[in-house]
Formats: sequence, structure tokens, C-alpha cells
Amino acid sequence: MQGTKIAVLGCGGRMGRRLLAMTLETEGARLVAGSLRPDSPLAGQDLGILAGHGEVGAKATTDTAEALAACDVAIDFTAPDATAAHARLAAQAGKALIVGTTGMGETQLSILREAAQAIPLVYDRNMSFGVNLLALLIEQAARTLGPDYDIEVVEMHHRHKVDAPSGTALLLGEAAAKGRGRDLDEVANARRSGITGARPAGEIGFASLRGGDVTGEHCVIFATDGERLELGHRASNRDLFARGAVKAALWSAQQPAGFYSMRNVLGL
Ligand SMILES: NC(=O)c1ccc[n+]([C@@H]2O[C@H](COP(=O)([O-])OP(=O)(O)OC[C@H]3O[C@@H](n4cnc5c(N)ncnc54)[C@H](OP(=O)(O)O)[C@@H]3O)[C@@H](O)[C@H]2O)c1
Repeated sequence: MQGTKIAVLGCGGRMGRRLLAMTLETEGARLVAGSLRPDSPLAGQDLGILAGHGEVGAKATTDTAEALAACDVAIDFTAPDATAAHARLAAQAGKALIVGTTGMGETQLSILREAAQAIPLVYDRNMSFGVNLLALLIEQAARTLGPDYDIEVVEMHHRHKVDAPSGTALLLGEAAAKGRGRDLDEVANARRSGITGARPAGEIGFASLRGGDVTGEHCVIFATDGERLELGHRASNRDLFARGAVKAALWSAQQPAGFYSMRNVLGL
């Protein structure tokens, strides 16, 4: 059978299951393996059943190295420490890796960058076309509107999300900071509570709402005296992220080793 052979690491998760389904539904992609945490009760389950399709004959394994050996490209939407371990294994196996995990710290990111010296590695905190385009628009708006406009990033996600602000909120905040020629770390404020004093000029504020089953909503507000400009994005299901990740997987199979983002994949 033809096609790029894809393994989904962490295939029992919310994104993992949608990645299995999207791989099965995408022309040119071939689902060959899915891996799980070592003690997962889902071990041995048929990948097609996990995806909500019929049986496909391939079973979920707890052996990540075995899943990597079977594929051309692996896709990982798990958790920061698991992703860092998977990046080392993918580099050893010489297999391209697509990473969508958010909440990564500097140590984990440096492991990804090191792996990218040996393999093509695409890392992005949001795999959708819409959000990556939005980031460009925000960068331009921040540059054009200048410092008289206060920038606030508001996001809402489902009650299970474990990191805040969301990876996408940070990505959009970085775009706004870049448009102003600033480093987000120097101007971000995600901790307003109590007697805060007046808002410092140049700050980029973050507010994170959590509840229900919200897939992901982001709004970047540019507020000044007399007007407010809002640029936003709403995801109504997880398929846009899964579609972007599978697109990145097919793209990465043709690339030399390197550390890439969705902007590279989408040509933005
Ligand atoms: N970049 C994007 O576009 C994008 C979009 C949506 C979500 N995300 C991110 O993707 C990540 C996953 O999100 P989610 O909603 O799918 O979370 P989730 O449902 O909790 O899924 C995470 C999965 O990773 C598995 N896992 C943890 N450690 C593992 C290991 N060592 N080996 C194999 N599997 C392991 C977990 O298994 P157990 O359940 O057995 O622990 C779980 O099934 C989060 O960081 C989220 O923010 C990114």
C-alpha cells in the first residue's frame, strides 16, 4: 500500500483519537501504529475502533520504539515530559516528528531543538490554518496601531485543560509583542488580582477562562480611548488541529532535518 506511514503517539487522548481518524481519512496518509502510556488500559485496542471507525487490524501498543520503527512520521499531542522523551526516541530512530503538545518548558523545548538536528521536527502550539493566519494579522495590527492601544488576550477552553494561558494565547501574544518590537516575556501579565494599580503602558495582558467542553476560543483586544478592535478565532471541534497535524506529517516526510513551525508548513 502507498502513502506516508504515520504513527500517533498518545493515541488514546482527545486529540490522539481525532489524529487516528484524520490519518485514516486523509489521502496519501497511512495509519500504521499508535502508542499509549506504559500502563494504559487501552493497550491492544484496534486503532480503528479508538478512532470511531471500523477495525483496521493495527493495535495500540505501549512500546513507543515499536510504533516509531513502523512509521515514516510520528505525531505527538501528549504532555511535555512524554513529548520530550518521544523526541529523543524519534531522533534515535531517524523518524520525523510533529509536536502539538502545549505547556512545554525551556528544558523540554531544548530537547526538541536538539532532536531537530537529526530529524525534521514540526512544533506548533496551534496547528490550524486560521490561527496561524490570525497571528500574522495581529502582528500587523500591533505594528500599525502602536502603543496607544492596550493589548489584552482572552481565551476560553474546556474544563480538562491543564495549562494556562493556552499555548495559542501565548502564540498570539508573541505575535502582538513582535509587531511592537518587544519580547513577550518582558511585557506579559497573566496574574492580575487584588489591588493591581493602573495598567502599565505597553503591557500585554492575558485572561484564561475554563469551563464545559469549549474546544478553544481566542480574542485579542486592542483598546484605546473611544474604540476597541477585536481579532479572534473560534474552534468548534478538534478536527482543524488534527487536519493541520496530518498535513504537517505529509509535508515533513519531504524535508531535511530542521526545526519547523506551521508557518513553514502552510507557506505563511
Ligand atoms: N497544537 C495544537 O493545535 C493543539 C490543539 C489541541 C490540543 N493541543 C495540546 O495537545 C495536548 C493533548 O491534548 P488533549 O486534549 O488530547 O489531552 P488528553 O486527552 O489528556 O490526551 C493526552 C494523552 O497523552 C497520553 N500520554 C501521556 N503520557 C504519555 C506517554 N508517556 N506515552 C504515550 N501517551 C501518553 C495520555 O494518556 P493517559 O490518558 O493514559 O494518561 C492522554 O491519552 C495538550 O498539550 C493540548 O494543549 C494542541
